[in-house]
Amino acid sequence: MKVNGASYMVPCLAAILVLLQCFCAVAEVVTCSGMVPMVYRNDKISITDFGAVGDGRTLNTKAFREAIYRIEHLKRRGGTLLYVPAGVYLTESFNLTSRMTLYLAKGAVIKASQDTSNWPLIAPLPSYGRGRERPGGRYMSFIHGDGLHDVIITGENGTIDGQGDVWWNMWRQRTLQYTRPNLVEFKDSRGIIISNVIFKNSPFWNIHPVYCSSVVIRYVTILAPADSPNTDGIDPDSSSHVCIEDSYISTGDDLIAVKSGWDQYGIAYGRPSNDITIRRITGSSPFAGIAVGSETSGGVTNVLAEHITLSHTGIGIHLKTNIGRGGIIRNITISDVFMDTVRKGIKIAGDVGDHPDDNYDPNALPVLKHVRIKNVWGEKVLEAGLIKGLKNSPFTDICLSNVHLTGSSASRHGPWTCADVSGGSVQVSPSPCSELISSTQSGVCSIPF
Ligand SMILES: *[C@@H]1O[C@H](CO)[C@@H](O)[C@H](O)[C@H]1NC(C)=O
Ligand SMILES: *[C@@H]1O[C@H](CO)[C@@H](O)[C@H](O)[C@H]1NC(C)=O
Ligand SMILES: *[C@@H]1O[C@H](CO)[C@@H](O)[C@H](O)[C@H]1NC(C)=O
Repeated sequence: MKVNGASYMVPCLAAILVLLQCFCAVAEVVTCSGMVPMVYRNDKISITDFGAVGDGRTLNTKAFREAIYRIEHLKRRGGTLLYVPAGVYLTESFNLTSRMTLYLAKGAVIKASQDTSNWPLIAPLPSYGRGRERPGGRYMSFIHGDGLHDVIITGENGTIDGQGDVWWNMWRQRTLQYTRPNLVEFKDSRGIIISNVIFKNSPFWNIHPVYCSSVVIRYVTILAPADSPNTDGIDPDSSSHVCIEDSYISTGDDLIAVKSGWDQYGIAYGRPSNDITIRRITGSSPFAGIAVGSETSGGVTNVLAEHITLSHTGIGIHLKTNIGRGGIIRNITISDVFMDTVRKGIKIAGDVGDHPDDNYDPNALPVLKHVRIKNVWGEKVLEAGLIKGLKNSPFTDICLSNVHLTGSSASRHGPWTCADVSGGSVQVSPSPCSELISSTQSGVCSIPF
């Protein structure tokens, strides 16, 4: 009996341990779901109640604008859900309102009109001083939110299609009069959720939260051709508490780029991006996978990007700024990155990006410090890294640990190029440049700041 009892005890304990481990492993999957509550809306209306026709040809601008006008003015308790059933709904750009859910059912497509002559213009962002690509105002985003709170865009993976090729062609032919529209922009807004939606062929940047706080973007798919110009995936800009996770992004420019304004305009506006979490993102880009910059004049602090999988990408991790930007880029942690077939693994540089005009202050030097890049594995990485600070503002406390990038043996310059940078490295292969080889064996990387 005793023997039997003991022999039962061991597997029993083992089973309990396994169960506990499973429990802990599940509990360890961190998400941004708690950051902004997913509100249930009692009041529901359908876009078809407003005369919308999902035949792909009828212009439904009036239906969208009236439905949203109704939500805005009837102010139902708990807000209103605007249901978009299966079908292709062509429309011009429209504004959202507070306390609403835009719900795209399975098979629903909201498609942007290609009539660029009729597209509304809005003021440039104060932190940019002008449109990002052309002077003056800019075209309003296809779906726009200004000064809102409690807005959800979700559903069953319906599609928001920007039909951007007309805009890309105008860019290619240099016939753009103003800066192209983003696909979705929220400005001065808070409490935003964007989930379970497919974004396709944005004219310019796909999702642009600017001067926002408490923004959750998850379970989205963002697609644009690799040769489509400036189709950044998600650009949190002068925004705080932004959480982006569990998404697939494949576009013609940076997948995610954290920004905060442009040179003297961004410095004067002084609005940083901080507390930005990015996790479980997969994708490819001819430019960067995870980027900070290059417009960082309001400063960028406390960024955590982890569990990133990139393939066929230009630069895996890219922190970029320039003289005239000013701004402090600080406390950036990027970890658990796998990259495959990449031109450059890591680039941190102080000479990237253009200026809004000639009035930028060449003495407004950016500060870039406290960067942690750890647990990075790369295959077919042509060049491991380029880390180049500014002579009069060297990058400091840049630490690489457990970074292994194979495939860069063929590089002409050697795998790493560094200048005006200090920091440390632990377990990095190929062996990093001398600037990052720790003087103390324990490594500067472990020192908190
Ligand atoms: C949409 O919002 C923009 C920016 O706030 C505003 O200029 C424009 O008049 C609004 N358009 C409509 C149709 O309400
Ligand atoms: C929508 O897409 C996400 C991935 O982006 C997936 O996790 C989810 O299961 C899909 N939902 C439906 C209803 O198809
Ligand atoms: C650095 O950023 C992380 C988020 O990535 C945050 O948790 C931490 O508190 C920040 N550290 C400091 C010293 O601000």
